Amino acid sequence: MSTTYPITDHAYDVIVVGAGGAGLRATLGMAAAGLKTACITKVFPTRSHTVAAQGGIGAALGNMAEDSWQWHMYDTVKGSDWLGDQDAIEYMCRAAVPAVHELEHFGVPFSRTKDGRIYQRPFGGHMRNYGEAPVQRACAAADRTGHAILHTLYQQSLKHNAEFFVEYFAIDLIMDDEGACRGVIAWNLDDGTIHRFQGHTTVFATGGYGRAYFSCTSAHTCTGDGNAMAARAGLPLQDHEFIQFHPTGIYGSGCLITEGARGEGGYLTNSEGERFMERYAPTAKDLASRDVVSRSMTVEIREGRGVGAENDHIMLHLEHLGAEILLARLPGITETAKIFAGVDATREPIPVLPTVHYNMGGIPTNHHGEALRPTADDPDAVCRGLMAVGECGCASVHGANRLGTNSLLDIVVFGRAAALRAAEKIKPGSSHPPLPKDSADLALSRLDRLRNANGSQPTAEIRMKMQKTMQSNAAVFRNQDVLAEGCRQIDEVWDTLGDIRLSDRSLIWNSDLVEAFELENLMICAKASLYSAEARKESRGAHAREDFAERDDVNWMKHSLACVDDAGKVTLTYRPVHTYTLTNEAKYIEPQKRVY
Ligand code: FUM
Repeated sequence: MSTTYPITDHAYDVIVVGAGGAGLRATLGMAAAGLKTACITKVFPTRSHTVAAQGGIGAALGNMAEDSWQWHMYDTVKGSDWLGDQDAIEYMCRAAVPAVHELEHFGVPFSRTKDGRIYQRPFGGHMRNYGEAPVQRACAAADRTGHAILHTLYQQSLKHNAEFFVEYFAIDLIMDDEGACRGVIAWNLDDGTIHRFQGHTTVFATGGYGRAYFSCTSAHTCTGDGNAMAARAGLPLQDHEFIQFHPTGIYGSGCLITEGARGEGGYLTNSEGERFMERYAPTAKDLASRDVVSRSMTVEIREGRGVGAENDHIMLHLEHLGAEILLARLPGITETAKIFAGVDATREPIPVLPTVHYNMGGIPTNHHGEALRPTADDPDAVCRGLMAVGECGCASVHGANRLGTNSLLDIVVFGRAAALRAAEKIKPGSSHPPLPKDSADLALSRLDRLRNANGSQPTAEIRMKMQKTMQSNAAVFRNQDVLAEGCRQIDEVWDTLGDIRLSDRSLIWNSDLVEAFELENLMICAKASLYSAEARKESRGAHAREDFAERDDVNWMKHSLACVDDAGKVTLTYRPVHTYTLTNEAKYIEPQKRVY
């Protein structure tokens, strides 16, 4: 290292990295339990990507018609295409009802039924009585549910005196010789100072890595920072091949049009004006699971029934719902359609296309949010001192395909679970053992290397090559040739990381440097995704292979674990799916053919 960096030290009981819904729910729970809690976030909390979640949070409240958490569990397991861990899914679906009531009491302004109860709308894959017919399970605050939840959780965290370090970028974890996590090194973007946060537990809540793709619904901040820091600390990344395409991103811009739009009665048509989902999913139709709808749209386009001058997208109709419903239930997307598609949704259809939306995979965890470092002897071995919740974690409740509304549910349920676990294990104010001498070396050598990057390619150029590779080679449909070519191309992109050119060496508000850090993080995620996808010779959920069209439970009902080393070499191993439940109130759901 050529530069010496002065370090400011902090000691906390717990450190949360990320202030979206998962990070804030963990933060407030830990602070409320009396733990000295720091929340480090690279953007102001209420700008976190949770703010963009629209349609609702799933919970079997039964406000509109009979519902049960066991039906919700069944839909989630089926949605996951039997890759989800059923103990964790049971935990989440059972906890959903109290979690939504808790949010209501915290102050989330949910939309209401005429008799004052929380309004619930239909959503893809939400069915009554084990797949019989659609049910209204998505608890909604108009089409701004994430916004409402995020603001409420931030207010609650402040109330419990959690300490926020806003616009701090976490660079790398501090690991000790025994492989336990002891905290994190972060860079204050505002004044350029470097900080060492020591904690008994560090909780990653850093969100997904949608920005590995050219077109996605994710914010620019979704760069897989937690996943990559875990990988650099030697942990595997689980199920990275499973990437969800949301059926209705606006054609051209990728902005999300909530599935709640179809929940309220919207439907899709092809160039012949046909409501084609009736052919692909006779019962659920436009409300089939997301992977099914995205594939059906892609087939329509491929077979020449796409709309527009280039026959390359699909139409979403809401105009028949009328301006009054659109204003009351879907005001946000009505405005989004106007701004990003130039369309008045009360009069004309919205052009849409399946768009990258969510990462089912992430840092493996148990249902308490504790990160795992699986071994051959113990596939559920815990990595001491590290937790991961929300999209960066993989509990695994979403398996191969997430049900809509289960992401807002995941963040509050597992944010809370992590807080409960931390409160159980950590005595507030207990002393910290001395840190290893080299505690900051990994982070600072990375900082130094990137600050002094003097190659020939701007970060944006390399990032674009990565995004185009992912967009073309890890798409809705995949096959061996395309995936093998994707691995080859991403290796080539990796080799150019040493050739980054930075225009600015300052440590104060250096967005060039932030983007270089983020690119390195995204590249680790992209590598894990492509290599895991190439290796998985079956179709399951969002991983649809044309050369292996069927799900193969005999050989592939297992989680992928991808370790990415410093040289970019990917090593794959696997761990079993949990095929058991936590209590007798939930029965193990045997694999079945997945039809909607
Ligand atoms: O369509 C949506 O509103 C997205 C919801 C989700 O991803 O859960």
